[in-house]
Amino acid sequence: MIGIFDSGFGGLTTVRELRRILPQYDILFLGDSARTPYGSRSTSAVTRFTEEGVQRLFAEGAKIVLVACNTASADALRYLQSKYPHQKTLGVLIPAAEEALAQTRFGRIGVLATRGVVASKNYEKELNKLTSLLYHPADTRAEQIPKITSAPAPLLVPLVEEGWIKKPETRMILRKYLRPLKEANIDTLILGCTHYPLLLQEFQRKMGKQCVIINSGVAQARNFVNYLSRHREIEQTLSQNGVCRFLTTDDATRFRELGSRFLGETISSKQISHIELLPVFPQK
Ligand code: DGL
Repeated sequence: MIGIFDSGFGGLTTVRELRRILPQYDILFLGDSARTPYGSRSTSAVTRFTEEGVQRLFAEGAKIVLVACNTASADALRYLQSKYPHQKTLGVLIPAAEEALAQTRFGRIGVLATRGVVASKNYEKELNKLTSLLYHPADTRAEQIPKITSAPAPLLVPLVEEGWIKKPETRMILRKYLRPLKEANIDTLILGCTHYPLLLQEFQRKMGKQCVIINSGVAQARNFVNYLSRHREIEQTLSQNGVCRFLTTDDATRFRELGSRFLGETISSKQISHIELLPVFPQK
């Protein structure tokens, strides 16, 4: 089966797209809701939590794990890939960066994300790396692409979790967060947080029709289709019964309620189990 890890509920936006395009594969999702949000935590805490969650998914039988959380991908992916070279763990930043580069018309890319993602500068690094791979230095587009403007939007995660999607307060906060990106005249916006796609309509309204909005979960799911076609040895190990199960480190009832909103369909109690990872403050 395919393991999908997230700091809480947001990664269900990736599950949703994956189920739409690859419904035959079994999925095991783990949301670390007891310790969410990751977005304002230190790199070392996010790395430790992500390692525990991803290892749990492999222990449950996942053959490959997608880290859907942008913050976990930014802080922990490289560490996990070098510590566990025989495990296949894929992040969300490269697929979203690739999609942005494919879509941008003028090379002006904006990234709206959690504090952790913005502080890591990893979207900038990946966009610059991909640009140098895609364009010959003599190509004038290489000079243009990408001009990146990043901004943190820490209040959006709690607002989305509260269901304040259409509230005037949310619109006002969104307008404030988007101001530096509008001033930079971006033509492509990466939603560098799993929660933001629930505000997609608001983003599009504020940025205008000309601005391409990249949903990182959708980019990750699409990129994964391509990955599987290039890695038949992995694809052949994945079970195909169309079953989707969910693990949460917090209350299963709350997960069912909030998770159904993110997934866009009702999650039944049978599908969810509560699990324990290490406590937030381990005893000495
Ligand atoms: N899943 C996180 C991300 O994509 C957002 C929520 C959090 O801060 O934990 O960065």
